[in-house]
Amino acid sequence: MFGLDGPEALAADSLGLIAGIGDSVAAFDEARAAAEAVELPWPADAVTDVAILGMGGSAIAADLVTGAYRERLRLPITTVRDYYIPGWIGEGTLVILSSYSGGTEETLTAASQVLERNSLAVAVTSGGKLGSFYAAEGVPVIPVVPGMQPRAALLRMMVPLLVMLDRHALVPSLDSDMEEARATLTAAIAAYGPDVPEAENPAKQLARSLASRVPLVWGAELTTPIAIRWKGQFNENAKIPAYASALPELDHNEICGFAGMPAPLSELAQLVMLRDPRHHRQVQRRFDLTRELVEPHVAGVLSIEAEGQSALARMLDLVILGDYASLYLALLRGVDPGPVEMIERLKERLAQTGFGRSADPSA
Ligand code: F6R
Repeated sequence: MFGLDGPEALAADSLGLIAGIGDSVAAFDEARAAAEAVELPWPADAVTDVAILGMGGSAIAADLVTGAYRERLRLPITTVRDYYIPGWIGEGTLVILSSYSGGTEETLTAASQVLERNSLAVAVTSGGKLGSFYAAEGVPVIPVVPGMQPRAALLRMMVPLLVMLDRHALVPSLDSDMEEARATLTAAIAAYGPDVPEAENPAKQLARSLASRVPLVWGAELTTPIAIRWKGQFNENAKIPAYASALPELDHNEICGFAGMPAPLSELAQLVMLRDPRHHRQVQRRFDLTRELVEPHVAGVLSIEAEGQSALARMLDLVILGDYASLYLALLRGVDPGPVEMIERLKERLAQTGFGRSADPSA
């Protein structure tokens, strides 16, 4: 097993994803400024509902934002991860086309239907067809710096969504949340970053406790999309299987499966519960009681609680912890967290069928 401390520990991270998290506050500020600067050719009160179209790292940004503000959203918001858009999207729908590369075929296919519906479309992208063709069609584009892995550009994709909701008065004023969010990012980097030795670093310790295990990440309410982010980061960075689900729903089905968990799987399964101090009190009880029932059937249970005043800050604290832990887990496994070869291979194969779009996002 590989070590996590010292500069040589980071050598396997060929794309510098670990070091990149250190730029989070600058990324946050740049993304906010870019989204505030874009001109929107419609009045704020024209919006009747919201759809955010995207996949993978560009879609989870939407889920995290809607998760953080879900009780205070003034209009319905849906994340669409499909080729087809729902029938209700119409002229009053604010549609945010979210694709870091601007070349993701599901998002582009869905975006073409948005143009036909005359919706209020705005794009968040670093380029590709979304940044060229749709800009030429009059879709305002919030620019994102190119050259990153989409999942590493989470803040650059997420902050523009927040600003868009704010500019349309769909969430309460964000000013104090934004300030706390910046402070949370700074504190999280100081606590979980690569310079903090493993003995004092909760993210490195978390990675260590997940080594050779299969994480089953549970969330609820605010932490439901965070569990999905953690799962995705374990998959894409550490290249391991990981699964996410949410309470209270899992108490109505998934809980039954633990009784029949095959022994080899029991020995590998590591339950990770992402808890929020503001959960509904029945959700708090459900976490405790479900844990009691399930614990005999898994290798271990970890419970991690979000910290912070605002939901946005609590969400970011857990997201940064999970991002670092997944990257450290890659190092422990001796794998490069950056490249996502399986995704690239699949995109190439799809392109070869003649129906998919080219793997080259600018094509
Ligand atoms: C890769 C990643 C992926 C992409 C997804 C969609 O780092 O996170 O999940 O986000 O393949 O691509 P984009 O974001 O370019 O639309």
